[in-house]
Amino acid sequence: MAFATRCFVRAASSSAATAAAKKLIVKHVTVIGGGLMGAGIAQVAAASGHTVVLVDQSDEILKKSTKGIEESLKRVTKKKFADKPEAGAEFIEKTLKNITTSTDAVAVVHSTDLVIEAIVENQAIKNELFKRLDKFAPEHTIFASNTSSLQITQLANSTTRQDRFGGLHFFNPVPMMKLVEVIKTPMTSQKTFESLLDFSKAVGKSPVTCKDTPGFIVNRLLVPYMLEAVRLFERGDASKEDIDVAMKLGAGYPMGPFELLDYVGLDTSKYILDGWHSLEPDNPLFAPSPLLNKLVEEKKLGKKTGEGFYKYK
Ligand code: NAI
Repeated sequence: MAFATRCFVRAASSSAATAAAKKLIVKHVTVIGGGLMGAGIAQVAAASGHTVVLVDQSDEILKKSTKGIEESLKRVTKKKFADKPEAGAEFIEKTLKNITTSTDAVAVVHSTDLVIEAIVENQAIKNELFKRLDKFAPEHTIFASNTSSLQITQLANSTTRQDRFGGLHFFNPVPMMKLVEVIKTPMTSQKTFESLLDFSKAVGKSPVTCKDTPGFIVNRLLVPYMLEAVRLFERGDASKEDIDVAMKLGAGYPMGPFELLDYVGLDTSKYILDGWHSLEPDNPLFAPSPLLNKLVEEKKLGKKTGEGFYKYK
C-alpha cells in the first residue's frame, strides 16, 4: 500500500511537472491592430516586461497609437508613482523601450510566442489575417482574438493551429479594466488555455473563463440589458434620462444604459446585435431595435461622433 501510494505520488508530481513544463511562458507578443484596444493591450503587455510588436496598416496610425500609449502611461504613472517621479519616468522609458511597431505582420511574427488580434470586427478580414499569419508564425505560437462578438471557433478554423487558438477578450480602457475573458473552444488545448490564463495574470488582469458562446459572459448580459432599456424608452414607458438615473441610483451602476451605449458606440452595439440575431433569429433578446438602427443610419454613433442618444458638444 505504502509502495502504491509512493508510486502514485511520484507519478502525480511528475505529471504535474510535465504539464507545467509544457505550458508556454509568453515573452514576446505581437499585437495586430493599434486602435483603441490594440494600443491598450500593447501597453499593459509592455508594462509587465513583455517585448511587444504593435502592427497596423500605416505608420501614421502607429504614430497615433504610440502617442496614445505615451499619454496613457503618463496618467497611470502619475497615480502609481505619485511620490516617486523618477521611478515613474524610468517605468515609462522601460515600457516604451519594450514596444516596437511595424506595418508588416508577416515579417514580424517569426519569433513571437503570442499573436493577439485586435483589428476591425469583421469575420472575413480577421479570417484572412489569421490564415496568412498561420503560414509564417512558428509552430509553438499561440493565436488569440480580442473579438467582442464573433465565434472564436470560426476564426480558429481559418488556421491549421486550432489547438493553439483561443479568445483573449480585454475591456475598454485596457489599462484600467481588470477583467480578461479567456475563451476555450472545443479544440483549444489545455496547454494553450493555461498559457493564456498565465499571460492574463502576468499583465496584471483577473481572468475568467467562458465557453465560445455569443458575447461570452459580459456582453451576453450587458448587450441585451442595454437593448431592453432602448425598448423601454421606445415604448414610451420612461425617458432615457430617468432610465439612466434609475440604473445608477437604484442598481449602483456607474453609468446608465444610454450613457454606456453612447460610450461603446451605437454602430458597435448594432453590429453585435445584428450578428447574434442572424445566429438566433427567434431569440427576442437579440431582436433588432428600430431606434438604434435609425440613429446609426443618421451617423449618430455616440460620443465618438458628438451625438448618439445624447449630444456631446
Ligand atoms: P479600432 O477601430 O479602434 O482599431 C482597429 C485597428 O485595426 C485600426 O487601427 C485599424 O487600422 C486596424 N486594422 C484593421 N485591419 C487591419 C489589418 N488587416 N491589419 C492590421 N491592422 C488592421 O477598433 P477597437 O475598438 O480597438 O476594436 C478592435 C477589436 O477589439 C474588435 O474586434 C472589437 O470587437 C474588439 N473589442 C472592442 C472593444 C471596445 O470597447 N472598443 C472592447 C473589447 C473588444
